[in-house]
Amino acid sequence: MYRPIFLIGFMGSGKSTVGRRLADQLGFRFIDTDTFIETRFRQRIVDMFAALGEEVFRRRERVIIEELMSMEDTVFATGGGLPCHGDTMELLNASGETVYFRCSAQILSLRLELCKRTRPTIRDKSGEELLIFTQETLARREPIYSQAKHTFDIDLIDTPEKEEAFARQLAQ
Ligand code: S3P
Repeated sequence: MYRPIFLIGFMGSGKSTVGRRLADQLGFRFIDTDTFIETRFRQRIVDMFAALGEEVFRRRERVIIEELMSMEDTVFATGGGLPCHGDTMELLNASGETVYFRCSAQILSLRLELCKRTRPTIRDKSGEELLIFTQETLARREPIYSQAKHTFDIDLIDTPEKEEAFARQLAQ
């Protein structure tokens, strides 16, 4: 039995795609915290933000990660803001391996343009606005993300083949 692996980083950095492949390689369970929260509270994250506000969502994230974080043989794709509230990053570091998928704001905002509909913090932003939001939020979160035990630059990992190869590299 192995301690869990927590993939952390900004929205659009590939935590879920790579995480699923990594879990396959290792024969581990895969948990996406966003999906888990949606199932547990029977509500989509966009609706949670709209009906109850971000604070409630952050409290739910914390409850869920505290509940799950000692699960062995598990790869977690964590929500982009999850490690950035309270002492959650310290908890993750104490519970298992933390891996930061580092990516530039320019590339993230291009990727996010294609999949922003389900993400309440960016769904109404486009082009320049999305880039500025990404730059500012990333700058605020970077000091926390960089406390991860391992960091990988993923700017150039932009095809399914490269994601597969990256997952294999992580599994080593
Ligand atoms: C968020 C990231 C999302 C989700 C929510 C808020 C954020 O997760 O938890 O929309 O604040 O960065 P992903 O990183 O999986 O997109």
